Amino acid sequence: MKKIFLLIICLYAINASAQKQEGLALTPPMGWNSWNKFACNVDENLIRQTADAMVASGMRDAGYQYIVIDDCWHGERDSLGFIHPDPQRFPSGIKALADYVHSKGLKFGIYSDAGWKTCGGRPGSRGREYQDAQTYANWGVDYLKYDWCNTEGLKAEGAYLTMRDALSAAGRPIVFSICEWGDNKPWEWARNVGHLWRTTGDIYACWDCEYNHGTWSSWGVLRILDKQDGLRQYAGPGHWNDPDMMEVGNGMTVNEDRAHFAMWCMLAAPLMAGNDLVNMKKETLEILTNKEAIAINQDPLGVQGLRYSAKDSLEVWFKPLADGDWAVCFLNRSNTAQPINFDWKNHTISDTVANRELNFTKDSFMLRNVWARKEMGNTQKILRATVPAHDVLMLRLTSANSRPKKKISKS
Ligand code: GLA
Repeated sequence: MKKIFLLIICLYAINASAQKQEGLALTPPMGWNSWNKFACNVDENLIRQTADAMVASGMRDAGYQYIVIDDCWHGERDSLGFIHPDPQRFPSGIKALADYVHSKGLKFGIYSDAGWKTCGGRPGSRGREYQDAQTYANWGVDYLKYDWCNTEGLKAEGAYLTMRDALSAAGRPIVFSICEWGDNKPWEWARNVGHLWRTTGDIYACWDCEYNHGTWSSWGVLRILDKQDGLRQYAGPGHWNDPDMMEVGNGMTVNEDRAHFAMWCMLAAPLMAGNDLVNMKKETLEILTNKEAIAINQDPLGVQGLRYSAKDSLEVWFKPLADGDWAVCFLNRSNTAQPINFDWKNHTISDTVANRELNFTKDSFMLRNVWARKEMGNTQKILRATVPAHDVLMLRLTSANSRPKKKISKS
């Protein structure tokens, strides 16, 4: 009897540690990642300066939290198998760097890979998962991006489960970012494994292109956007579809950057800036810190937006928000400006994921232009506007009924 009791306790203990860490990333994670701009050119000065810039620019106050070093921070494993950073690039060590990032009121993230080697050829975590997870926890890591290069013979779900359990056993809250490019449909199995999962191959800083690297391609903003079709029901608080880190500020036009950011907000995508925060144009910062757009991305309902219609390269997207509000985004994919004549009363939006219906003959909404930051009337009138090429018109619809009633003053 005593033995059975002990066995039950043991099984319970094993099971209890083998859980995804809950309560993390209840809204899409926001931060910065080194890869899109700096690739392997990372060192501790860049990370410190980026943390400083995130605070000084106001990005931290706008909600950005994580500073994540992507590939190529690694040096070698020692004789006991412990991983160490590249001693030339990170002479002070990762713990000191994490402490610095924390001292700025930010969180710190790192990168590894489920295979023998990372995509950049550095040591991967295969066979060292528990040891690496413990090392990261000791360093003060808050976020792990876990890649999928050099994983011959591994199955994605099992490999990511192993690292999930290793992170749980390490005993520090660590957001787990799955990066296997959507190859194994992580949306079908990763809800209880990671907090976000990449849905596609790598992004590239162009509007609508494929950049062929030979054995693989990276993709422009519209190509990535189109690969999100059919995935919205899998996302929600604590488990997000990740259409990749942003390219805002990395070479597209201001209109394209704005549209890219707006669509990532509509998708409830993680908002990981991928540009140089130290040398950033004013326009880039304005896009990245638009609080009204960010509020749509970070809305606590956590529902990914839906593509309601697509005609002549003009798409209309809707995203239900908490408290009965909605976000609406008109996306002009084409190379010329497009007029909008949108008679709200002719449209009924049925969102089967959020289980909400929007019927403009029954309900009236006030319109707020998120980028112009001004009111634009209400849904009783036909919306007439022009959307520039490769740009958006993004609105927040606030129910006239949900507005706080004006107090009637007694005279
Ligand atoms: C893969 C990932 C990228 C980046 C690089 C690093 O391509 O998808 O986001 O992490 O590896 O080598």
